[in-house]
Amino acid sequence: MRVFLGITGASGAPYAARILQGLAAADCEIGVSASEAGVQVLATELYGDARLPRDEVLARFVEPAGDAATIYDPHDYGAPHASGSARIDGYVVCPCSMATAGTIATGGEANLVHRAAGVALKEGRKLVLVPRETPLSTIHLENLLRLRQAGAVILFAAPGFYHGAGTVDDLVDFVAGRALAQLGLDTTLVKEWGE
Ligand SMILES: Cc1cc2nc3c(=O)[nH]c(=O)nc-3n(C[C@H](O)[C@H](O)[C@H](O)COP(=O)(O)O)c2cc1C
Repeated sequence: MRVFLGITGASGAPYAARILQGLAAADCEIGVSASEAGVQVLATELYGDARLPRDEVLARFVEPAGDAATIYDPHDYGAPHASGSARIDGYVVCPCSMATAGTIATGGEANLVHRAAGVALKEGRKLVLVPRETPLSTIHLENLLRLRQAGAVILFAAPGFYHGAGTVDDLVDFVAGRALAQLGLDTTLVKEWGE
């Protein structure tokens, strides 16, 4: 399975790290592209230093995925994910900032993350957006509604506590597991209700 993982500048880097691990464990071929703010959030939330160089942040991020992941520059429109002719099975933007959600919702394609999401929508392919913002303005809500109506799955970074979560990792697994399940992949990160 070929999957695109876009990373933008909303809080939630641990979700992205877990999704990447889950995709690699499922033998997916993963294209990774991060916006400038996305790299800043990875650096801050995963490595505790917002000023780490971009290349170092991304190399550390994809390292657990080994050869399964390829990093694409956010302005590399030669990447396969920039065209509908490439057979990509699923697209995930996690975390998804409100800025990126708004840009995708209006058809703006200012970077590879926006473009890949736009390709997913125009080709009728699975697009999972994992936004995080609170509270939400009317503009945010309207953009998310528009994206849902266009076919995207809005999978809010809102972990549940009803499985008896004991650690932060449990909460991260909850969201990452739901995102992977949307792609038809391993759901063992989150127990099914009634199990
Ligand atoms: C540490 C950090 C945390 C942020 N958290 C959020 C957030 O949770 N949600 C959000 O929509 N924007 C958040 N932002 C703001 C976005 O990064 C900003 O709007 C940026 O322009 C998004 O650009 P991008 O969508 O190209 O990544 C955060 C920024 C930083 C630096």
